[in-house]
Amino acid sequence: MHETAPRRLLVTSALPYANGHIHLGHLVEYIQTDIFVRFQKLRGNKAVYICADDTHGTAIMLRAKSEGRSEQDLIAEMQQAHRSDFDGFHVAFDHYGSTDCPTNRRLCGEIWQSLHAAGLIVRRDVQQLFDPTAGVFLADRFVKGTCPRCQAADQYGDSCEACGATYSPADLIDPRSTLSDGLPEVRSAEHLFVELEKMHGFLDEWTQRSGALAAPIANYLAGHFLGEALRDWDISRPAPYFGFEIPDFPGHYWYVWFDAPIGYLASTADWADAHGESFDAWWKPSAEGTGVEIHHFIGKDITYFHTLFWPAMLQAAGLQLPAGVHVHGFLTVNGQKMSKSRGTFILARTWLDHVDPEMLRYFYASKISGGIDDLDLDLNDFVAKANADIVGKIVNLASRTMRWLVESGLSASYPDDGGLFARAAAEGEDIAAAYDAGDLARAMRMIMQAADRANAFVDERQPWKLAKAGPDAAAELQDVASIAVNLFRQLMVYLAPVMPALAEEAAALVGGPILAWNDAQTPLVGCAVKPFQPLKARVTPEQIAAVLAASQQSTPASETSPNQASSKTKGSPMDDTVETPADAPSPSPLDAEPLAAECTIDDFTKVDLRVARVLSAEEVPEARKLLKLTVSLGGDTTRTIFAGIKGHHEPASLVDRLVVVVANLAPRKMKFGLSEGMVVAASGEGAEGVFLISPDTGALPGMRLR
Ligand code: MSP
Ligand code: ZN
Repeated sequence: MHETAPRRLLVTSALPYANGHIHLGHLVEYIQTDIFVRFQKLRGNKAVYICADDTHGTAIMLRAKSEGRSEQDLIAEMQQAHRSDFDGFHVAFDHYGSTDCPTNRRLCGEIWQSLHAAGLIVRRDVQQLFDPTAGVFLADRFVKGTCPRCQAADQYGDSCEACGATYSPADLIDPRSTLSDGLPEVRSAEHLFVELEKMHGFLDEWTQRSGALAAPIANYLAGHFLGEALRDWDISRPAPYFGFEIPDFPGHYWYVWFDAPIGYLASTADWADAHGESFDAWWKPSAEGTGVEIHHFIGKDITYFHTLFWPAMLQAAGLQLPAGVHVHGFLTVNGQKMSKSRGTFILARTWLDHVDPEMLRYFYASKISGGIDDLDLDLNDFVAKANADIVGKIVNLASRTMRWLVESGLSASYPDDGGLFARAAAEGEDIAAAYDAGDLARAMRMIMQAADRANAFVDERQPWKLAKAGPDAAAELQDVASIAVNLFRQLMVYLAPVMPALAEEAAALVGGPILAWNDAQTPLVGCAVKPFQPLKARVTPEQIAAVLAASQQSTPASETSPNQASSKTKGSPMDDTVETPADAPSPSPLDAEPLAAECTIDDFTKVDLRVARVLSAEEVPEARKLLKLTVSLGGDTTRTIFAGIKGHHEPASLVDRLVVVVANLAPRKMKFGLSEGMVVAASGEGAEGVFLISPDTGALPGMRLR
């Protein structure tokens, strides 16, 4: 019920890197933001959900290079993939842009001017490692070497996983470039910095007293950063770099973390242009749009950027400051960090291939309470809860009562239900307050309690008995069913932000579209009821097994991309945006990589494994790991395969030997040519190396493995 004027909210999720696909971890954020926005709209507020792909940086540049195509081509393809993943999960942006667009370039220039005008930009020399073979300056994650403190081998350029030391890449004993394996040189280059310390007073005030941050976040900033002078922020990168060239510093580019948050502005501007809205009304505090609230939803790993750099930039540019920066924790699956070897690094697309996306929305909602704690997706729990709550409580209410109303429609006046409808209607404001505060778990609990009361009512009045009792009981049957269907509809209103497709399907059966939160205040009377359609199928353990199996990646060497690195220190000033969770080392192969989920013989036969004879093998000089093999599958059928076994096998020793290949793998375009299959090899914990598989003597090229 709106006693006050509608609020105006501009809501964002962090801009996902164009460098990787959307996975279930990302979705914790996008689903939660989408629920918030849908809720605000249902309340009659004006809410706009803005997002974009974050496209710039070294990682994208290197990947495009290794795939032999332009960055634009790569990011366009990733944007397509991101959008269709989000779509599948009903994440409905009002605008989804890209940081690599003219509007963003223009706005970066404008903010840059403001930072200059405020006297915040300085120029300084920086020593950085440079890879002369690859021709690029190396972000910390692209350098490996021996830890200067504990001598552990093969550590990244920013920190040691063995002893926890942090250092700069130049401190490593024997540093190597992970791009070329070559020796990097220290080169000096001029960089531009933002003197954040000049904004210290403002940041003290804003972080501690504006109310935009939850207390734990404000305290964290006070304890870790604001107690001492703030470090200058290195905001430029020398060529080559994929990004926007700095107008007054040719040959240098804005660091991706400068143009990424400005993407929030650019995406708003493009949305405004397309919808006859004014950008200024949303971002300029003094213009007509005062009263706008800006809400950023982000993960805890990017807190620093959004609570120190970004507000400082906005302040310097005279733009509106966020009303809320909502920080959430990370997703774990079955109690552990997502892991490729366990099959729990689950891509959005893989889930969509097998399991109902709205069930995941509901499960996340039931776990998100607005704090920074990590959220666990226990897959057994998930199946049990989705089925018990959504199928067992919500849908069941309709499935066991709607059928008796198809002929009669709903009762002409709302019958006496002992106060059930009124009680849940009265709770509407409490549920709304929980949604508004981001405590979705509390909202879901209240909704499920109301569902329990509704089901208890049906159990007690036993409409199925009334149905058998004949015409005498017809009026009572209509009343009992009408009450149940009204309670169902009321719950669907409250659940609509979380399960929009279910709400829509339910609305098509009775009552028509749900347009407002207040639809839960008034029962429906006298209207038609369509025959019940199964609204939600149960989630099955088989579906989950299929997701795990499809997510299981043994990551054979030939599939490893050169730029995979852990994101542990994302956000350190020199780091450039690469994300892949690293698994903790374990003693035995089975421990390190538990068996894949069970599969059927049909799953197995989909993979066509054949014996093949190596006809020729040669080095690919530009590739660190690849050998180019030509293999015979018998007769005149040959295949070219790029296999990631360089360094493990002398090319000459391979010629004439038999190997096993995946013969029906979709061909894959690589920088060096088309790879038409994959050579099977064993690798794992306990022994360094990649071990090719040989058949017993007598096997012939072309024979199938079964
Ligand atoms: N591109 C930056 C954000 C720029 S915003 C101006 C980035 N991208 S990201 O793709 O790595 O992450 C996007 C969002 O998803 C971040 O808020 C991040 O915290 C969140 N998540 C990524 N992995 C996650 C989990 N495993 N769990 C929960 N959230 C996670 O950071
Ligand atoms: Zn160490």
